[in-house]
Amino acid sequence: MQTINIGLLGLGTVGSGVAQVLRDNGAEIARRLGREVRISAVCDSRAERAAQWCPQATLVANPMELVQRDDVDIVVELFGGTGVAKDVVLKAIESGKHIVTANKKLLAEYGNEIFALAGKHNVMVQFEASVAGGIPVIKALREGLAANKIQSIAGIINGTSNFILTEMREKGSTFKDVLAEAQKLGYAEADPTFDIEGHDAGHKITIMSALAFGTPVNFGACYLEGISQLDSRDIKYAEELGYRIKLLGITRKTEKGIELRVHPTLIPESYLLANVNGVMNAVRVNADMVGETLYYGAGAGSLPTASAVVADLVDICRLISADRENRVPYLAFQPSDVQQANFVSMDEISSSYYLRVRADDQAGVLGTIATLLAREGVSIEALIQKAVLDNHQAEIVILTHHTIEKNVKNAIEAIESQECVREPIILIRMESLNG
Ligand code: NDP
Ligand code: HSE
Repeated sequence: MQTINIGLLGLGTVGSGVAQVLRDNGAEIARRLGREVRISAVCDSRAERAAQWCPQATLVANPMELVQRDDVDIVVELFGGTGVAKDVVLKAIESGKHIVTANKKLLAEYGNEIFALAGKHNVMVQFEASVAGGIPVIKALREGLAANKIQSIAGIINGTSNFILTEMREKGSTFKDVLAEAQKLGYAEADPTFDIEGHDAGHKITIMSALAFGTPVNFGACYLEGISQLDSRDIKYAEELGYRIKLLGITRKTEKGIELRVHPTLIPESYLLANVNGVMNAVRVNADMVGETLYYGAGAGSLPTASAVVADLVDICRLISADRENRVPYLAFQPSDVQQANFVSMDEISSSYYLRVRADDQAGVLGTIATLLAREGVSIEALIQKAVLDNHQAEIVILTHHTIEKNVKNAIEAIESQECVREPIILIRMESLNG
């Protein structure tokens, strides 16, 4: 049986999972593939990890050397980041090696450069694990939905944030404690601010947006707002009103252009997405022919992510001898047909909104707020006084109908300038998740 040799960069959470999957399921994978997949060379800063996970592989200290070795057919990059990882991926491509990576930051920020170089050197770049961990959503977007015009994608795509929101809502745990637990479980990025400030979800929705709409990757166009500023009161009020707050990545093709954004979002509690809890991820895709499809599974963690990495290895092994034109294009569309697009600024998006206003508890305040919203054409769906505080102030929660974001922001500015309003107004977007 022919052997395909892997050069593995990184034996941390995901890399050790890949070694375990190939060790435990290697025979089954060979049955599917008709070839044996073997880790021939490995690079990690900690030699003991190599001895533990890949005793048969050659430990190579310099990653630049590893990616040029004759006994490496496919380079699996699991270092993370965009420093050494970027340099070694580019060198590997120049050396004619196929690439598998789980590195969404690298692809969201440098994907266009990487795919262009890979095209020049006729090598494959696979990245299933970069989005939504173990869920084969890249495969779905690149291949399974190929008959469709995709209209929108909305997903819970950061396991760490979803884990934090779930634990805060269900157990009343503190943000700090749950984040520490997510780090211990190997869900969080090396720098967890990427998770909680929305960058990681931004990287992932940027990649999916490019695959859905046939544009270059454009992380710069992605609006990012994470969960670090989220107040447990809003989680509670949302629940009382029949909603859950989730960190959503959203991309949508509209008449104005492509929306690309990450932010905490209220969604009705009856929706499937609202019931995706813990580290689980889910991606909902609306497409013109198939309608709505939903992809669900573990969004992070060693073995689920390794499952996606190894699936990519299997794909490459199957296509390694195929002509370039018979391979799946990097960004789902033929490289010559990947087209620039206009991205919609946040001021121009249309959404409904949850607003929390802290104001003096006195006659006329509600009327003033309603008038200022109406002046900007913002229509109120519900307005509830949620709490009267002992200092004669009240918290008022307002749900609006769909409107253009700049109208809401103008109204907020006007309301905040009123003397009776005591704190900056909290704004959280709401989604009905229509195509
Ligand atoms: P880890 O930090 O657990 O593993 C990375 C490993 O690579 C560490 O052992 C690290 O050593 C080593 N390493 C990094 N740079 C070098 C270098 N220049 N030379 C030698 N060794 C190096 O990360 P993960 O496994 O969690 O993540 C890997 C990639 O997978 C990232 O891109 C991440 O975003 C992505 N990913 C992670 C998921 C998860 O659930 N963890 C899920 C989906 C994707 P040291 O610790 O000493 O730096
Ligand atoms: N830190 C990421 C998460 C890992 O929490 O979703 C999976 O990409």
